[in-house]
Amino acid sequence: QSEATGETKEFLFKILVVGDIGTGKTSIIKRYVHNIFSYFYRSTIGVDFALKVLQWEQNIVVRVQLWDIAGQERFGNMTRVYYKDAVGAMVVFDVTRTSTFEAVSKWKSDIDSKVRLPGDAMIPVVLLANKCDLSKDGLVRNAAQMDKYCEEKGFIGWFETSAKENVNIDKACRALVAKILEND
Ligand code: GTP
Ligand code: MG
Repeated sequence: QSEATGETKEFLFKILVVGDIGTGKTSIIKRYVHNIFSYFYRSTIGVDFALKVLQWEQNIVVRVQLWDIAGQERFGNMTRVYYKDAVGAMVVFDVTRTSTFEAVSKWKSDIDSKVRLPGDAMIPVVLLANKCDLSKDGLVRNAAQMDKYCEEKGFIGWFETSAKENVNIDKACRALVAKILEND
């Protein structure tokens, strides 16, 4: 659309944020939406919501509805309900805890088995290696290996993030939204 017509296109995207307990999902969302961070840990119960409005282009507004799903839901049966109608997702792990990385493929399969785009394509998913401000567990030292892992598991990409230091969070969300818009 040309500027002259002034017609704005608006999109509403439901995006899931999943990953094991304490990996920083809520912190990433709080940083992204409110630009705040706290060391205080209060585990999410069930699901929380947040909205971020992006002026994507001059004539495109994207409302990103973030579904902050409790890590403990991996052991429950509610995820099918939470995932309904999502068009994208972020899987978060904690670079200081190997077990949270091992859970990544479980979260990815959970998403792929429970939510699809019209036409049955998988929804785009990014992988976030969070708490990169802390010393790493050797998990993401090898970028080429991470690239290969993402390709194998069907992630659109991965980012080292820090909710604390505000690293790469905007970038990761932008990459995801760009991919969703491509599908649209
Ligand atoms: P659940 O809701 O239980 O699934 O956890 P969560 O994934 O929402 O984790 P949350 O955001 O509550 O963060 C857990 C703890 O990790 C908190 O104490 C946060 O302050 C801390 N944390 C989160 N992100 C970062 C980060 O990037 N760096 C550091 N150093 N700490 C972080
Ligand atoms: Mg939480």
